[in-house]
Amino acid sequence: MAGRSVVVGVGHYLPKRVVPNAEFEKTLDTTDEWIRTRSGIERRHFAADDETTSDLATFAAQNALKDAGLVADDIDAIVLATSTADLTFPSAATMVQARLGMTRGFAFDVQAVCAGFVFALSNANALILSGQAERVLVIGAETFSRIMDWTDRSTCVLFGDGAGALVLERQEGEGTSQDRGILAIDLNSDGRYKDLLYVDGGVSTQSTGHLRMQGNQVFRHAVEKLSKTAETALDRAGLNNDDVDWIVPHQANIRIIQGTAKKMGVPMDRVVVTVQDHGNTSAASIPLALSVGKERGQIKPGDLIVTEAIGGGLAWGAIALRW
Ligand code: UT7
Repeated sequence: MAGRSVVVGVGHYLPKRVVPNAEFEKTLDTTDEWIRTRSGIERRHFAADDETTSDLATFAAQNALKDAGLVADDIDAIVLATSTADLTFPSAATMVQARLGMTRGFAFDVQAVCAGFVFALSNANALILSGQAERVLVIGAETFSRIMDWTDRSTCVLFGDGAGALVLERQEGEGTSQDRGILAIDLNSDGRYKDLLYVDGGVSTQSTGHLRMQGNQVFRHAVEKLSKTAETALDRAGLNNDDVDWIVPHQANIRIIQGTAKKMGVPMDRVVVTVQDHGNTSAASIPLALSVGKERGQIKPGDLIVTEAIGGGLAWGAIALRW
């Protein structure tokens, strides 16, 4: 017997405002055609001026709790992945805790940029396996529209806002790769690559800053590192690429998603793709894709999923889990 962190609920929330690529043609030297062919993105959602990351996170969490048939006080901990929290402190997670009406347990944020949800899920799994929590709400929520340089066509057309959430619950498994829940994890970072993707501001430098990216360099690292981390996680679970029902990748660029699947020998009809509708929502992209994938009827109980992401740091990783 072995403790496992099993997904018992999933939900998401997207802000109302949808911005198609054509909107950018009005203010930038760009085209719908370029954005579509270079990134796969067709539209993205942007938060309203008075809507914050913790608002999006709260709605996603409520939807995940509803899906699980649970209420806030059934939850022992909230782990929220974001790089765009409402305030410098307190954490967005504690704001969500209050908004949900959760009067016990604990909540904190995790920051690993676009890989944030993988790191948050790993953290939540560790809390469950170490006996510190029985049920954990794991959220990815972002308002990257707040850190865009709207004059930089190479970045501002790529990102969007949104949130997704999972409820993880401790259940007993057999200790085999047939168990439901998180089976294996691979996390990595390499701070030498800071300059490839960063925000040129922050609390300690006394500004908010804007996202800066050497896109083609990040692209190269992504294709090389994502298939490797996914295969490492699968190998640790005693599985291989042929066992995968769904790759649920971070949704940054359709060409990275296709390149990773090709390297892994997994056909695209076994990859959940939402980048066309959401753009890159950083730490929110994986839980959004899991939620939409379930809604579409793609992801079913018992499916073997490998989820992978890379972003600023660089930080990257993958998780093998059975739904
Ligand atoms: O989630 C975190 C991880 N982030 C990522 O995974 C993003 C990784 N990178 C990418 O997705 C791609 O590198 C981009 C979509 C950002 C760019 O695609 P690319 O094929 O790597 O293009 P590039 O950066 O090499 O740029 C090609 C050309 C450049 O023009 P020149 O120098 O060849 O004349 C750019 O100036 O495309 C130009 N360009 C644009 N043209 C029209 C850059 N942005 C735009 C634009 N519209 N919006």
